[in-house]
Amino acid sequence: MLNIVLFGPPGSGKGTQSEKIIEKYKLIHISTGDLLREQVAAQSELGLKAKEIMDRGELVSDNIVIGMIRSKLEEHQDGPGFIFDGFPRTVEQARELRKALTDYDEHVGVMISLEVPREELVKRLLKRGEECGRSDDRLDTINNRIDVYNQQTMPVTYYYDKMRKHASVDGIGSINEIFERIVEVIDKKK
Ligand code: AP5
Ligand code: MG
Repeated sequence: MLNIVLFGPPGSGKGTQSEKIIEKYKLIHISTGDLLREQVAAQSELGLKAKEIMDRGELVSDNIVIGMIRSKLEEHQDGPGFIFDGFPRTVEQARELRKALTDYDEHVGVMISLEVPREELVKRLLKRGEECGRSDDRLDTINNRIDVYNQQTMPVTYYYDKMRKHASVDGIGSINEIFERIVEVIDKKK
C-alpha cells in the first residue's frame, strides 16, 4: 500500500491536488472535511453538531474524526492505499492514525505539506466563497481557520519531521506545476 498524508492550510490546494493524485496512483481519497460535509447535508445528529463548529472555523473533536477514519480504513483494507486530505490535524490524530494503520500492518509513506502564504489563501477562499458558497468561506471564518491551523495543526509537521516523512512542496503556481512537484516527491518514496 501507498499511504500519503496531504497536508497544508485551508485553501492550499489539498482537495484540488488529491483529485489528480488519485487519478494517477489509484488511491482511495479520504477527506475528513468532505465526510463531515456529507453529514451536514444529511442533517444527521453528528452533522448538526459539526456544522456549528465548522462555520466558526474550529476543529471537530478528535474522537469523531478518528472514528470516521477507522471505519474508512476497514471498508478499504484491501485497497491500493490512501490519500488523507485534511487529516491528521492535531498531533493526537496523527498518533491515532499511526495506531490504526499499524492494525493493518501499514504506515504513512510520506506527508506532503503544501506551502502557500496567508494572503494567497485568503484570496483563493474568498473567490471560492463567491463562486460556490461553501459556508465557511467567509472572511471571519477563513481567518479563524488559518489561525487554528497555525496553532493546532502546524505541530503535526514536527511529528512527521521526526520520522523523516515530511516533505514541503511549494503550493504556488499552476495546478499542473504543483502536481509535478508532488509526483516527484511521491515517486522518490515509492
Ligand atoms: P476541510 O474541508 O479540510 O477544509 P480546509 O482544510 O479548510 O481546506 P479547504 O478544503 O478549504 O482547502 P484545500 O486545501 O482543500 O484547497 P482546495 O483544493 O479546495 O475542513 C473544513 C472544516 O471541517 C474544518 O475547518 C474543521 O472544522 C472540519 N475538519 C475537517 N477535517 C478535520 C479534522 N481532521 N479534525 C477536526 N476537524 C476537521 O483549493 C481552494 C481553492 O483554491 C479552490 O477554489 C481551488 O480551485 C483554488 N486553487 C487550488 N489550487 C490553486 C492554485 N494552484 N492556484 C490558484 N487557485 C487554486
Ligand atoms: Mg479541501
